[in-house]
Formats: sequence, C-alpha cells, structure tokens
Amino acid sequence: MMIRNEERVARFSFEERAIHWLAALSFLYAALTGLALWSPRLFWLASIFGGGNTVRGWHPWGGVIFSLTLGFMFRNWARQMRLDAEDRAWLRQAHRYAMHDEEGLPEAGRFNAGQKMLFWTQSTSALILFFSGIILWFPETMPRSLRLSAVLIHPIAAIISIGGIIVHIYMGTAAVPEAFRGMIQGWVRPGWAASHHPKWYREIKRR
Ligand code: HEM
Repeated sequence: MMIRNEERVARFSFEERAIHWLAALSFLYAALTGLALWSPRLFWLASIFGGGNTVRGWHPWGGVIFSLTLGFMFRNWARQMRLDAEDRAWLRQAHRYAMHDEEGLPEAGRFNAGQKMLFWTQSTSALILFFSGIILWFPETMPRSLRLSAVLIHPIAAIISIGGIIVHIYMGTAAVPEAFRGMIQGWVRPGWAASHHPKWYREIKRR
C-alpha cells in the first residue's frame, strides 16, 4: 500500500473492491429473495425479482455466488482481521467509539476491532448459510434430522447476518462517508486515515 501523493492514500486495491461489491450485490439479492421465501408477509418482495418461481430457482445461486465471493474476501483479509490485545481493549470500550468519545481508545490499524468483528460474523454466518442452504436445496437426499436443523439454522444465521450488514451499511455510508469513497475509488484523504486508522497510516507512511 503506497501513498500516491499528499492528497490521496491508497486504501483498497481494485481486486479488494471488486470482491467486496460482488459480495454486496449477491448478498442483497440472496437476502431479499430469502426474506420473500421465508415469510408470506414478505412475499411481495418476490415480485421485484421476477415472481415466486424465479426467486425459488435463483435464490440458492445468489447464495452460492455470495459464499464464493466471501471465500475470496476471507483469503484476502483473514490475516489482517486477527484480533489482538488492543482490539479486545477497544471492544470493551466500543460504546465510546459510538458516542464519538474516542480519546484514549486504542488506536486502530487498517481495520478497527468493530470492523474485524463484522468480518468474523459474516464469515461464520456465510459458512453456516452455505451448508444449511445446500441441505434445503436438496431436501429429498438429506436425513430428516439434518433437514429440520437446517430449517431452523438457515434463517437464524440469515437474520444475524442481515442485522450486521444493516449496521455496516450505515457505518460505511452515512456515518463515515470517506470510507465509502475508499471502497468505490480506492483512496482516502490522509487526514481521515490519520484520525480513523492512525496505526495503519503511520505504517504506510514509513514504507
Ligand atoms: C450493500 C452495501 C454495502 C456497503 C455500502 C458497504 C460499504 C463498505 C465500506 C465503505 C467499507 C470500507 C470501510 C473502511 O474503509 O474502513 C466496507 C468494508 C467491508 N465490507 Fe462492506 N459494504 C456493503 C456490503 C457488504 C457485505 C454484504 C459484506 C459481507 C457480507 C461486506 C463486508 C465488508 C467487510 C468484511 C469490510 C472490511 C471491514 C469493514 O470495513 O467493516 N460489506 N464496506
């Protein structure tokens, strides 16, 4: 990661951004079609995506694409997302971050501890959604006990995942607009990098 000039700090490579937005699109598709299939009250969502039969046929493929892209995201970021002692101290005081009372909070590296938690929550739920989804896709070939647990586990994992992404979308757009630019154009302002990810900013300045 290099500083291109005084105004711009490279934040995400093209590959990182492409994988992220493919994950985002496939997630939104799988989540909205999944909600349509899950509850009769939400079945109206199916009409946006071509009706009940189309949604029943394509929802699993949306899920497969999402799981695959998350696999690539995992390969790119898993090492950087490991939580260290400072991250754990940050998490204990995360309410102060939410209240913009950040003085004295451990400094964040490329990702703060909240972002790391999102990564691990989404990776775990993607794995659970993938395997329980396969069971629900081919129910006639699965033992009854597996089918019953998948019926329960698949929507629970989906709800946790959707809840996390709602917070994530708010944080990545309205709450921290500069972060959104980073994920679209790949770069951020040095001042933002220094205040939101000071440890990371010092590291890339040294390179
Ligand atoms: C659909 C709308 C979404 C928006 C607007 C969005 C926005 C963003 C932004 C702006 C960042 C960069 C944060 C930074 O520079 O510090 C980011 C990072 C990230 N996104 Fe998304 N994202 C979306 C969906 C998703 C989905 C569906 C997933 C995976 C399930 C995901 C997983 C991640 C992860 C793991 C990171 C790195 C850690 C973090 O910043 O939280 N995103 N996203």
